[in-house]
Amino acid sequence: MALVPPLPVVAALLLLLAQPLGNAAGDLHPVVLVPGYGSNQLEAMLTAAYEPPAPACAAAGADRQGWFPLWPNHTATRDASQVPCFADQMSLVYDAGADDYRNADGVATRVPSFGSARALIGWDQLVRQLEGMGYRDGETLLAAPYDFRYAVAPRGHPSAVGSRYFRDLGRLIRAASLRRGRPAIVVAHSFGCALTYQFLLSRPLPWRCRYVKHVVLLGSALGGFAPGMYGLSAGIDYGLPGVTRPAMLRLARSQQSTLWRLPTPLVFGDRPLAVTRSGTYTARNMSAFLEAIGFPDGVWPYETRVLPMWEALPPPMVPVTSVIGVGIRTPETYVFGTDGFEGEPEVTYGDGDGDINLVSLVAVEDWAGVEGQAMEVVRLPGVNHSGFFSVDSAVERVVDEICRAGGGSTELDRKFSI
Ligand SMILES: *[C@@H]1O[C@H](CO)[C@@H](O)[C@H](O)[C@H]1NC(C)=O
Ligand SMILES: *[C@@H]1O[C@H](CO)[C@@H](O)[C@H](O)[C@H]1NC(C)=O
Ligand SMILES: *[C@@H]1O[C@H](CO)[C@@H](O)[C@H](O)[C@H]1NC(C)=O
Repeated sequence: MALVPPLPVVAALLLLLAQPLGNAAGDLHPVVLVPGYGSNQLEAMLTAAYEPPAPACAAAGADRQGWFPLWPNHTATRDASQVPCFADQMSLVYDAGADDYRNADGVATRVPSFGSARALIGWDQLVRQLEGMGYRDGETLLAAPYDFRYAVAPRGHPSAVGSRYFRDLGRLIRAASLRRGRPAIVVAHSFGCALTYQFLLSRPLPWRCRYVKHVVLLGSALGGFAPGMYGLSAGIDYGLPGVTRPAMLRLARSQQSTLWRLPTPLVFGDRPLAVTRSGTYTARNMSAFLEAIGFPDGVWPYETRVLPMWEALPPPMVPVTSVIGVGIRTPETYVFGTDGFEGEPEVTYGDGDGDINLVSLVAVEDWAGVEGQAMEVVRLPGVNHSGFFSVDSAVERVVDEICRAGGGSTELDRKFSI
């Protein structure tokens, strides 16, 4: 009996034998994808403690004993009566006593398919291209989806969900590197860039150097962005019909990650971001801004949990490629009239990728001058914040940068050598 290897071992051996030896795929560094806000599924389950905000939510809860897709929620898009349920279940609570964020009472959530690139929303074209080069989902190509309503917090402040994510991300990168015998290339987009950056800083330098070969940042905003400020004052509706203003505000203001969007003093300095009859708010006035929009409860978490993480941008000391879109009209200053923050502002535009202001997109470029920090910068004119996944030439360029990061010849190199 003891001589017969257990089935999993046999399967692993067969897999090993099935790997073609010495081909291009054998040279690949593992790639770990870290998506942006809202770019992976969330599932929810309602428990007995759930208090439905409307009868329609109770009905939906009653015939659903198990996990259901919370995000993206297609029912809410089609059935207006489900919108308040979605808004309620998608909101978080900041528990001041615990100094941490948690789900609304009676709502359990989870992130399906951790590890698989199939878990990502909107990345299909890029994933297909990587698979065409020999990458295999779950083996050499991995993804780290997460609950994007949360973030992490500085030392001394609990962040149960974010800390667990960093632990899981660390394990994924380390396991992929060890399995492959080569450090991983981490490819992050948008909010995923901010998380990846803080993740790297949270690991000791030897860990980073051992397991991370290169980081490719797509549309990073390490200094926040002006539209993020507007989102906190006006609320967010996820494009759903008929979301009431209170629900929009709760959705925006209860999430930990939305505070990470606020423009930081380090990057935005004295630029005017919001102008009202009574004054001008810059990134240095963010606490006064939160008070003024009627969100005083945001001041404490902002000052203690967010600001301290973005007061400096030390280089991560692993090679970085930053790919950004530029040349797209991006809101820069919001001018509010007599109705104050509840009125429709007049918007002044500047350069950026449509969502992120140029000044924040280029914040990482300062690392280029730091000794020991390898840094590549790629600017794609006319490509917007999600264009890395939909504009053919941009997708190709990103794939190229991933190849280059792995030390391989790129598509472009190959084209020219034929
Ligand atoms: C959307 O949300 C409603 C209630 O919030 C829920 O009943 C439904 O199952 C969710 N998922 C999908 C895919 O519609
Ligand atoms: C913003 O901060 C500056 C400097 O601290 C101050 O002079 C100004 O009055 C503040 N603006 C508002 C609207 O609070
Ligand atoms: C971004 O660019 C793509 C491709 O050009 C386009 O389809 C999409 O509508 C743009 N998104 C926004 C928000 O403008």
